[in-house]
Amino acid sequence: MTAAQQPIGVFDSGVGGLSVLQALRAELPHERFVYLADSGNAPYGERGDAFVQARTHAITDYLCRQHHIKALVVACNTATAAAIHEARARHPRLPLVGVEPALKPAVAASKTGHIGVIGTRGTLTSAKFAKLLASLDGQAHFVVQPCDGLAHAIERSTAQAVPAASDATETRALCARYTSAMGRFGTQAGEMDTLVLGCTHYVFVQDELRSLLGPHIRLMDTGEPVARQTRRLLQATGTLVPENGTPAPAITLLTTGALEPLQNAATRWLQLPAECCATVDLPVGWSADPVR
Ligand code: DGL
Repeated sequence: MTAAQQPIGVFDSGVGGLSVLQALRAELPHERFVYLADSGNAPYGERGDAFVQARTHAITDYLCRQHHIKALVVACNTATAAAIHEARARHPRLPLVGVEPALKPAVAASKTGHIGVIGTRGTLTSAKFAKLLASLDGQAHFVVQPCDGLAHAIERSTAQAVPAASDATETRALCARYTSAMGRFGTQAGEMDTLVLGCTHYVFVQDELRSLLGPHIRLMDTGEPVARQTRRLLQATGTLVPENGTPAPAITLLTTGALEPLQNAATRWLQLPAECCATVDLPVGWSADPVR
């Protein structure tokens, strides 16, 4: 297998990173992907850094060893904030792309200069986020809101093939509670006209958010910029699959949790066949020597 034929690894605490995988597939249709949802351990957002770091290292090592990935996309803001720095140090030759809340694009897009940011507690209390916020000091007014429980509710909403009405009610109630605590959204002076989705799971409740906030509020996620950055990195390392019109290769989706929720998420959100999903046993405490 040539380097270009090796798959790109993508991982998240659970199904949220499928929103990034969607953008990656659109940008890089000839690439092979192996996606790992750590749903057996989700959510990461309220777990603390040490746990998230240990999982990030275990998953990265596993994807390198078992799937010989040529690059890794950390499709999780929480894991990026807690662990990408160390992951780069452990795997110096592995091209790594992380995600962070899209504050800079939000500053460019906002007309009122008032921007809401939602994410996990882990992401929004991290040093990495504090640095990002400080780098934009004076350029906009940010209202930052951790949304405890929202990623978990989105995970749970994949338990059944047809989403249960109670799940929709729960995710909507959480979206309503957190956005109403942030202040006024709107397009008038002093109102937030832009909301940054600082967690990859939240893309899957964007319809709820839109219906609560109205059609004029811009929602900013990171899927597309991350996909473009991945393409640039593969180009720079000469490992991009040649775009010669070959059909899109099969995708592998793995979960450390139950199989059905991943299958439901894959068919519901990405229109992928349930057969591309499988479980993987990667218990807490699993570790391998770093691959260099
Ligand atoms: N999807 C993840 C993120 O972007 C993590 C959500 C969670 O597990 O709490 O932050």
